[in-house]
Amino acid sequence: MKRTADFSKMKTKQDKIAMITAYDYPSAKQAEAGGADLILVGDSLGMTVLGYDSTVYVTTEDMLHHTKAVKRGARDTFVVTDMPFMTYHVNKEQTLNTARMLMQSGGADAVKLEGADEIVDRVRELTAAGVPVCAHLGLTPQSVGVLGGYKVQGKTAEAAQRLLEDAKAMEQAGAFMLVLECVPHQVAQSVAGALQIPVIGIGAGAETDGQVLVYHDIMRYGVGRTAKFVKSYADFDQDGIKAVSSYVTDVKTGAFPEKAHTFTMNEDELGRLYG
Ligand code: KIV
Ligand code: NA
Repeated sequence: MKRTADFSKMKTKQDKIAMITAYDYPSAKQAEAGGADLILVGDSLGMTVLGYDSTVYVTTEDMLHHTKAVKRGARDTFVVTDMPFMTYHVNKEQTLNTARMLMQSGGADAVKLEGADEIVDRVRELTAAGVPVCAHLGLTPQSVGVLGGYKVQGKTAEAAQRLLEDAKAMEQAGAFMLVLECVPHQVAQSVAGALQIPVIGIGAGAETDGQVLVYHDIMRYGVGRTAKFVKSYADFDQDGIKAVSSYVTDVKTGAFPEKAHTFTMNEDELGRLYG
């Protein structure tokens, strides 16, 4: 299993880091078998697998449930788990306690939290307590209500400068990695160039140290319209609906099950039974 030091080595050697989300046993098995460098149990699971319209409703219990399943499917892959909405804002105790549960009960190898400012202190406290922390700046979906929608961040010179300062503060506080979401590629490039820690982009262009995408976006699995920054490599929706409708047709026409799917009692026993 790769560890935090391996990710910084990858940055030094300019080996791109491939991160993917996973939420359950089968998606985690695919992530590991496909060679992902690390897995994110994102609170995007609120949308992708639970059907909410934002990540705000996701609880620590949800994250524990899904992190455990992911670890069972990918025992040999580094797993980062999102700290849910408002579990790291109230105080230091709740923050440390939530991270403790995600690591001790869930099996997470690290946690991720969104935002800057007062979150810098949380990152410092978690790191001091032995928790590897991945920061998340740019578009921070837990704050979608405040940001006013899922929009590109850091588009003005002032906002980009601010983002760079926030990123440096996260590195100084001890974050081992930074996810940068939905920012102009030039801004992402300057942030990645200014930091020692790996910067993983999503909708942040090609110049970051790695990329992260949501499993369900990659697979086109129950997501509907996807964002501009998404590239899909499969079409589970089309394949899945086709499979269900073929199955339904086969059942109704009697084409399924065939002999090959059927158990047969031998003639002797049949004779003893109905003889
Ligand atoms: O929850 C998530 O999937 C994320 C990634 C989009 C970075 O935070
Ligand atoms: Na997230």
